[in-house]
Amino acid sequence: MKKVKIIHLGIGKVGKTLVDQILKNKEVIRRTLGIYLIYSGLFNSKGGIFSDSGIDIRDVTKFPGNAVIVDYDKVISFLDENYIIVDTTASSETYGFLDLALKKSCYVAVSNKKPLCGNFNHFKRLVQKSERRFFYETTVGAGLPVIRTLMDLILTGDKIVQIQGCFSGTLGYIFSEIERGIAFSEAVKKAYELGYTEPDPRDDLSGLDVARKALILVRTMGRKTHLDEIKLTSLYPKQMEKLSVNDFFESLKNLDPVFQKRTVSAGKKGKTLRYVVTMDSESCRVGIEEVEKSSNLGSLKGPDNLIVFKTERYLANPLIIKGPGAGIGVTAAGVFADILEAAKLM
Ligand SMILES: NC(=O)c1ccc[n+]([C@@H]2O[C@H](COP(=O)([O-])OP(=O)(O)OC[C@H]3O[C@@H](n4cnc5c(N)ncnc54)[C@H](OP(=O)(O)O)[C@@H]3O)[C@@H](O)[C@H]2O)c1
Repeated sequence: MKKVKIIHLGIGKVGKTLVDQILKNKEVIRRTLGIYLIYSGLFNSKGGIFSDSGIDIRDVTKFPGNAVIVDYDKVISFLDENYIIVDTTASSETYGFLDLALKKSCYVAVSNKKPLCGNFNHFKRLVQKSERRFFYETTVGAGLPVIRTLMDLILTGDKIVQIQGCFSGTLGYIFSEIERGIAFSEAVKKAYELGYTEPDPRDDLSGLDVARKALILVRTMGRKTHLDEIKLTSLYPKQMEKLSVNDFFESLKNLDPVFQKRTVSAGKKGKTLRYVVTMDSESCRVGIEEVEKSSNLGSLKGPDNLIVFKTERYLANPLIIKGPGAGIGVTAAGVFADILEAAKLM
């Protein structure tokens, strides 16, 4: 029986669901794979709990309870090749810990995009091609197999001609609503009420989250690109950045005629608007595009994601991945699958 110890940073929406999924399935995994998953550490931003031999299951289910005792930097001396570090935070501060953990031969699985989107050398240090100990499948397309597919294409000698896709469930939903004739401001409000947007919808409407996903794909393709090199078009003008959330919602109404005009103009050409990532061997852009209504991107509905890989092998008939690209359950399950991939290699 292989014992695999988990230290989990970020017990928020995705993190809590992942803890539940692991606790519910760990017995099946022990029986079918011979892997015994042990929770050794749980951490939020204020601290956490740790025991090298495993935390009492009641403390895991009750976390944070009143047992906030250590900072995760203090556990470094315990780390070795039997540990998997899981990062489901939304923090840019975890990079140092993840890097140290890899140096101590741990495995790492993240849904957090930020450690992969800073300095390019940091990305390279985490994602070491020759020694696959860092898993980040859910950073693009949540539970959809996007990173794995891209890596398989590259490693089997295929050449990427173009990657195009809709990588944001929130923006996908908003553009589907606009296509149905709903005003932009109303569509954003509905997305907010349904819980599709972040508490401040500008986090979605700026396109920055999509640009981060695009950057992760570009870097996975081996290109030394930085976030500011991705051509990004926000859905709102710069002067709306400083407004309070309430004033921002009010001002969105001013953008309705702009979106309506663009939708009508696209419609006359048999096209529709989508928020699209397009990357080829030279450039990467993220923004609103007019796409054929009958195309793969044009027929996408609601919050689904779609990624089209056009490669030398998949040229006339591209390889397409489609499905829910966000959601707490599918994201947690995607990280869980990465943990199991890592555990099999340990
Ligand atoms: N939701 C999705 O559909 C989806 C899909 C793909 C990827 N993701 C990514 O998954 C991650 C988690 O998303 P979420 O919705 O679960 O976020 P969330 O609910 O905001 O949870 C984030 C958690 O991280 C903790 N945290 C923050 N900084 C930390 C640090 N330095 N060390 C340890 N813990 C820290 C927070 O703790 P406190 O409570 O103490 O602040 C919080 O519990 C994000 O990076 C997100 O982009 C989400």
